[in-house]
This record gives sequence, C-alpha cells and structure tokens, in this order.
Amino acid sequence: MIVLGIESSCDETAAAIVQDGTKILSSIVASQIEVHHKYGGVVPELASRMHIEAITPVVDEAVQKAAINIEDIDGVAATRGPGLIGALLVGFCFAKSFAWARQLPFAGVNHLEAHIYSLFLMDNKPKFPFIALVVSGGHTNIYHVTSYDNFELLGQTRDDAAGEAFDKVAKMLGIGYPGGPIIETLAKTKNPDAIMFPRTLLEKGSFDFSFSGIKSSVARYIHDKNITTKDEKAQVAASFQEAVIDVLSQKLINAAQHKKCLRIGIAGGVSANQTFVNKLSKRAKSKNIKVFSPPVELCGDNAAMIAARGYTMIQQGSLCTLDHDVFSRTKTD
Ligand code: KG4
Ligand code: ZN
Repeated sequence: MIVLGIESSCDETAAAIVQDGTKILSSIVASQIEVHHKYGGVVPELASRMHIEAITPVVDEAVQKAAINIEDIDGVAATRGPGLIGALLVGFCFAKSFAWARQLPFAGVNHLEAHIYSLFLMDNKPKFPFIALVVSGGHTNIYHVTSYDNFELLGQTRDDAAGEAFDKVAKMLGIGYPGGPIIETLAKTKNPDAIMFPRTLLEKGSFDFSFSGIKSSVARYIHDKNITTKDEKAQVAASFQEAVIDVLSQKLINAAQHKKCLRIGIAGGVSANQTFVNKLSKRAKSKNIKVFSPPVELCGDNAAMIAARGYTMIQQGSLCTLDHDVFSRTKTD
C-alpha cells in the first residue's frame, strides 16, 4: 500500500510517499526557518500563509521523486494535531480534499504518535516494550510504548518544552533561531561542567519535566556576568545544554528502570542533538539499556512519519471523514 503523508503543524510543509508503512520512496520538507528567523520564533499567521504557497509544489515534488503516478496512491494521511490551527488546516484540508476527490481512505494523524513512528522507519527498530521520549519545540513527553497503538504517557513538561528552552536561551544570547543546532555547535568547544545550572527533577518518582528554572537561571547568569563575547556565550551554551541533557537522561533511565524496559527511543527535533544521543547512550549502556534515535532527517518534522502512522490507522480502519477537524492541543497538553 502506497500512502501520501502530509505534515503542516508548525513551520515545515512536508509531503512523503511511503510504501507499506516502512519504505520511504520520497520525503520532501520545505522549511520556513528563513522567514521566522528574524522574529526569533514561529509567527503563526506567516506560517499558515507559507504553507498555502508550499503545499501543492511540495506534494508534486514528493510524487515525482517517488517516481510514481498520482493513481498509484492507495491512502492519504495528514497531521490532525497538536499544532498551530491555521497551519494544520492547510495540510489537513488539502489531504482531505485529495482523498475525497480520489475516493481514498484518509487518516488524521496525531503528530506526537507520528514522531514515535519515526523510530519504526529505521532498519534497526526498537522492539516492544520501550520508553519513548518525544522532545521538540512544543513537547517533552515520556511514553511507555507496548505496541504500535499503545502509548502510555508517563510524564511531560509542566512549562517549557526542552526545544523551546534551547530556542529561548539562544534568543537571550542573541545567537539566532532555531536555537538547538546553534547551541550544540557552539557548545562543542567548552567544558560543560564549568557552570552549574540547576537540574529540576521535581518530586521523587515523577516523570514530569520543568525547564523554566534552568532558563531563568541562565537569564540571571547572562545579566549578572554581563555575557557578551562569543567565547562567554559558548560557555553558557555548553553548560545549559549539559543541564538539559542531564535531566532528560536521568528521567529516561528512571522511566526505563521503573517499567523494566531495556530500550529507550528518542524522537523529535531535539533528538537530532548528537551530544544528547551520545551522553544518553553511554549512561544507558551502563544500566544495560540500549538507545535508539532516528537519522537526523527523521528527527525534526517530516511527512514520512505521518505516512507511517497513517498506514497502520488505514489498515485498522481508523479513518477520518469530511466532518473531522484539526485540534491544537491534546487532552494532556
Ligand atoms: O520536532 P521539531 O522539528 O518541531 C516541533 O514539533 O517543535 O523540533 C524543533 C525543535 C526546536 O526547538 C529546535 O531548537 C530543536 O528542535 N532542535 C534541537 C536541535 N535541532 C533542533 N535542539 C537541540 N539540539 C539540536 N541539534
Ligand atoms: Zn514535531
């Protein structure tokens, strides 16, 4: 079965063609970073307009790159939420109309479940059960995953998402947007333990996160020490990144031990951070736990993961009709 996947929940317009839920025939991502860069974050109205301009060419390109004809598509999947409403509506309505016009099954996909599905697009997939972390600009959620449809939410952030903290610290340092990759690169030259920013672990046994304390502490440090040079900024970046990685790693390993899982999968934009992947893998290995992380092109928002999740939903008959709508938040957000 060939599925067309469409993603437009935030600032990437993406389309992909995936065969039988696992084989990526094409995956096109049109990023809007250039447009939002000067505002230091995503401007929702601009994002919606950019999606409208990009959606048709991006889908055309995905079909061409996959070397298929439109008639070969057997099903359609699009992100239904969570995300920016105006942005979601563009991809979802396009997909709905496409499916309706061609009389194809249509699945409305949960963006967070789709990030977990990026792990199933790898050759070396984690076996069930495993602990999954979806860590992006909007979410920091830990799940206990026991099947292709069973995602038990164990914890989530109570304030900022980890990626959001990266973006906000980068903004404070005046080093650009999105902050994650810039901070990771800058941090490489410095000793991560030079500044001890706080690690907020919350109550014993909780798998929730809080990153606002780390963020405020960085803001105070920048102000009090009058951080201005590139060298000083790199030091703050390294120690901030270390604090975030430490908290994420501790919680993940605690969750794996609590659920007696020997596998951890990470997904979402922040999982592209190789310093995080390496440090987590090393710590987990000492507890006999293996870490799985997708290739960089599947970490951030993409439509291959949407098509992969949509494929299982279509197989199960879990479909959307023309009456279904998008949603901005999940019940747990
Ligand atoms: O999954 P994603 O592309 O979009 C959302 O659903 O939010 O994640 C984007 C987030 C941004 O906050 C960005 O700063 C962060 O992922 N990010 C990173 C890295 N690459 C992207 N954070 C830390 N290190 C990175 N290398
Ligand atoms: Zn995402």
